[in-house]
Amino acid sequence: MDIVVLAGGLSSERDVSFKSGTMVAQALRARGHRALVLDVFMGYLDKEQDISGVFDNSEANSVVVEDIPSEAPDIEAIIASRPDKSKSFFGPNVIKICQKADVVFMALHGGDGESGKVQAAFDLYGIRYTGNDYISSAIAMDKQMTKDFLIKAGIPTPAGTMLNKSDREGFSFDKYPCIVKPNCGGSSIGVTIVNNPNELDAALDAAFEWEDEVVIEQFIKGREFSDGVIEGKALPVIEIAPKQGFYDYKNKYAAGSAVETCPAQISDEVTTRMQKYAEKAFKTLGLTTYARIDFMMDEQENLYCLEANTLPGMTPTSLLPQEAAVVGMNFEDLCEHLIQVSLKKY
Ligand SMILES: Nc1ncnc2c1ncn2[C@@H]1O[C@H](COP(=O)(O)OP(=O)(O)O)[C@@H](O)[C@H]1O
Ligand SMILES: [Mg+2]
Repeated sequence: MDIVVLAGGLSSERDVSFKSGTMVAQALRARGHRALVLDVFMGYLDKEQDISGVFDNSEANSVVVEDIPSEAPDIEAIIASRPDKSKSFFGPNVIKICQKADVVFMALHGGDGESGKVQAAFDLYGIRYTGNDYISSAIAMDKQMTKDFLIKAGIPTPAGTMLNKSDREGFSFDKYPCIVKPNCGGSSIGVTIVNNPNELDAALDAAFEWEDEVVIEQFIKGREFSDGVIEGKALPVIEIAPKQGFYDYKNKYAAGSAVETCPAQISDEVTTRMQKYAEKAFKTLGLTTYARIDFMMDEQENLYCLEANTLPGMTPTSLLPQEAAVVGMNFEDLCEHLIQVSLKKY
């Protein structure tokens, strides 16, 4: 197949996305596909403005990124650097090339790539893509809306509230420690643990730097897990134990800074309970292809669902691929499987 692996974009997870995209493309090429890694924002510029043979040299025409910098990217600088200065999120030739592809593998993370907007545009352009449809993506992207859906479905989630920037004055929260996070963020960017009311202001500043809406919720002290779901069926659970602090941006992407164990060393009862919650969350959010659901477990083994990731990290050492490996699906198998699963939408 001719496959566009779509990456980049303007979210705080831009660099992470290139890493996923590069790895996915390598795997798909190993399976005989022609895979082109395309930056959704910068697009593809050819000297002759001729894209007819773009898949003939798909590897040479691909964006290649091997390492994720330790700091989140400077998005303003990236916007300023695009030569055409267009206001379109889609860079030059992106739609045309995606229309030529048999399928677009979505390696975008966060922002407009994960929010359902690209998916909705692709539906209208007749472009086939991997992953969930626009509406379930949009719901899962919104942490507070996700929590509302979880609560309705009887899935436990930390108690909390959402705050809009315009309602900030006079706001107080009465349960400490708590955690503050941007409502639609990812990769723990803008997330702060708040131990007492004196620390709340700085945490709100950090989160509002990214978005006008933030979630403030009870901090769950304990262990952290994640569970991938493909077509409604949960994979083995993975535990993530950062060596220092919590699972922040650095601990997520600097090699060796967190111990990841799959299958997680927890009782069968806890495993089953978490997998049931993961499958139920998947269903209640309207997801159909694949996703990864994040959990915390407190010292009494109560589980709390934090959020759903509809375009989770896709390098061979990312969490979902590790879980798939435990059931005998290697990274190449997984990339192909996600395409097959996703094409059932059409
Ligand atoms: N209520 C909570 N209690 C304890 N830790 C939390 C809580 N919410 C988030 N965290 C920590 O912050 C990280 C990021 O939060 P999460 O809601 O998963 O957002 P994202 O991964 O989209 O940035 C989690 O991986 C976890 O380590
Ligand atoms: Mg998360």
